[in-house]
Amino acid sequence: TLRVGILTSGGDCQALNATMRGLSKTLYNCVDDVEIIGFKRGYYGLMHEDYVKMKPRDFSGIINEGGTILGTSRQPFKEMRVIVDGFDKVAAMKKTYKKLNLDALAVLGGNGSLKSANMLAQEGLNVIGLPKTIDNDTWGTDYTFGFQSAIDIATRYLDDIHTTAQSHSRVFVVEVMGHKVGHITLAAGLAAGSDIILLPEIPYDINVVAKKVKERQKSGKGFTVIAAAEGAISKEDATLSKKKYKAKVAARNGASVVNEIAAQLQEVLPDAEIRTAVIGHAQRGGRPDAYDRQISTRFGIEGARLIMNRSFGRLVVLKQGEVDSIALEDTAGKLKYVDPNGKTVSNARLMGVTFGDK
Ligand code: F6P
Repeated sequence: TLRVGILTSGGDCQALNATMRGLSKTLYNCVDDVEIIGFKRGYYGLMHEDYVKMKPRDFSGIINEGGTILGTSRQPFKEMRVIVDGFDKVAAMKKTYKKLNLDALAVLGGNGSLKSANMLAQEGLNVIGLPKTIDNDTWGTDYTFGFQSAIDIATRYLDDIHTTAQSHSRVFVVEVMGHKVGHITLAAGLAAGSDIILLPEIPYDINVVAKKVKERQKSGKGFTVIAAAEGAISKEDATLSKKKYKAKVAARNGASVVNEIAAQLQEVLPDAEIRTAVIGHAQRGGRPDAYDRQISTRFGIEGARLIMNRSFGRLVVLKQGEVDSIALEDTAGKLKYVDPNGKTVSNARLMGVTFGDK
């Protein structure tokens, strides 16, 4: 019997189920005797022996379902080796893996979860990773599943704000998710036709932002929709030490950066009617779009292929349109940022889009 464990870890996203379906369907199809163990709520299930023996029908009809049939949880990497009340998480995970006599473990996760997957691989477990996150910030892959579905949702949201902004001649600062990177904001901003896109990778000067709003007003467009990444940062804040900036973000008490941007903008543009909006977790919710379903299916198949070839310690990736894999240790701890000098950004500037820097 080939015994494969599977878990979904970290923030959820669209197409987790489609990925698991692709992987399991391939294993069931290619291997005569296979047992798939689904760990509940990510690494939590592996630590606490909370699992279900999956059946082929469990993976049926889920290609277009949002969320994850296994549940997920955030288990911060920095706490993985911290022993609380005598409970050693890493030892517990290894114990479950051994006890269930697993041949392999498939981890569907973003950066933190892949770091943990790499750690488990180094501890001797046969691990493969599948790159999940709406943020598309996993180093080494052109694409992470969930990204396109999140772009679609953010774009529709920006479109909707557009009409109300236009009716009222207002300025809207809209927060788009993406953690420390601006991939979703850049893509959705372009898709929604935003003239001002604020990214963590390109610190903004509020006067430059205000200048663009005024330019639009002069040209007869009394409204502006600003697409701002949740990690957008001002030029002033970008000069702060990492520690000071972290403290500043913490002092927001969970409030969005768009409040700060709106307040700064109001000072420079006292007559403007400014509103803010936060798209939030809806960006991770609901059904995956067709692109995510097909990419995830291809990712899942490749994951199964790696397991069948006993090619472990690998992360499935997309490179120039084709699935491939890289070593988990190559991606662990690295992020993929928007390239501020890349063609997407520099070409957008040619069209008049401002990133608030110049
Ligand atoms: O990584 C996905 C993501 O949605 C980020 O875009 C966002 O910063 C974060 O997760 C939100 O985390 P939580 O689910 O813990 O609120």
